[in-house]
Amino acid sequence: MELFNENSKLASVIHKDHSLLPVINRLGIKLGFGDQTIRNICEEKDIDINFFVEIINVFHYEAYFPEKRLLDFSVSMVIEYLIKTHQYYVNYLIPENDRLIELFLLANPEESNENELVRKFYANFKEEFVIHISYEEREMFPYVLELNEAIKNPSFREQFRQKHPGFSISGFEKEHSNMDDKLDDLKNIIIKYLPPNYDQNRGNAFLNNLFMFEKDMKNHSRIEDHILIPKVKQLEKVLLNHE
Ligand SMILES: [Fe+2]
Ligand SMILES: [Fe+2]
Repeated sequence: MELFNENSKLASVIHKDHSLLPVINRLGIKLGFGDQTIRNICEEKDIDINFFVEIINVFHYEAYFPEKRLLDFSVSMVIEYLIKTHQYYVNYLIPENDRLIELFLLANPEESNENELVRKFYANFKEEFVIHISYEEREMFPYVLELNEAIKNPSFREQFRQKHPGFSISGFEKEHSNMDDKLDDLKNIIIKYLPPNYDQNRGNAFLNNLFMFEKDMKNHSRIEDHILIPKVKQLEKVLLNHE
C-alpha cells in the first residue's frame, strides 16, 4: 500500500484516484494547482498538512485507518470537515440523485408499480439520511464544540455543566447502520429485482451516483465513529478530572 505524502504532487494524486476530487474541495482546495506538491498547496492556503494527508489516505485506502494519529487533530478541525461533507451531500449529491432518479424512471414509458417502489425506497433512504445529518448538526456537534470550549475556558465550565448535567456523548450517538441498510436495499432493488424495461445508461448513471454516495458516506461515518466519538470521550475524561 503506497500512501500519499506531503511531497506527492496533488495532480498525480487526482490522476490516481479521482474520487478524491470532492474530498480536496472540502479541505479547501480548488483545481488549477499546476505541478505543486501537497506541502506547497497547503502552506499557501494555510491548511493543516498532516490533516490533509491523513484524510486523503483514509479516503483512498479502506484498510488504512491510523486511529492514534487521527486522534491528535483538534475536534473543531474534524467537525469543520464533517460539516463541509454534510454540505456537499445536501447541496450537491442529494439534488443530483433527485435529478438522476427522475431521468431514470421517466425513461420507462409505462409509469409502473415498480417505479413507485423505487421512489419509495429512495424516499426512505433520503428521509433517514436527512434526519441523521440534521440531528448531528443541531445536537451532537454543538455539544462537542461546547465541551471543547469548557475545557479550554474555565469560566465556561459551570454553564456547560448546567446545560449538560450528566455530560456524555453516548446520549448523542446515532447508529449509521440504518442509513447503510436503506441505501443497500435501494441498490439491490434495482440491481436484482427491477424489470429492466428502462434506459440502461440512465439506470447506470443513477446507480453510479449511489455507489459514489455510499463510498463517501461510509468514510464519513468511519471518521465520526472512530475519530470524533473516541476524541469526545477523551475530552469528557479531561473535564471530569477538572471537577
Ligand atoms: Fe455526519
Ligand atoms: Fe453520522
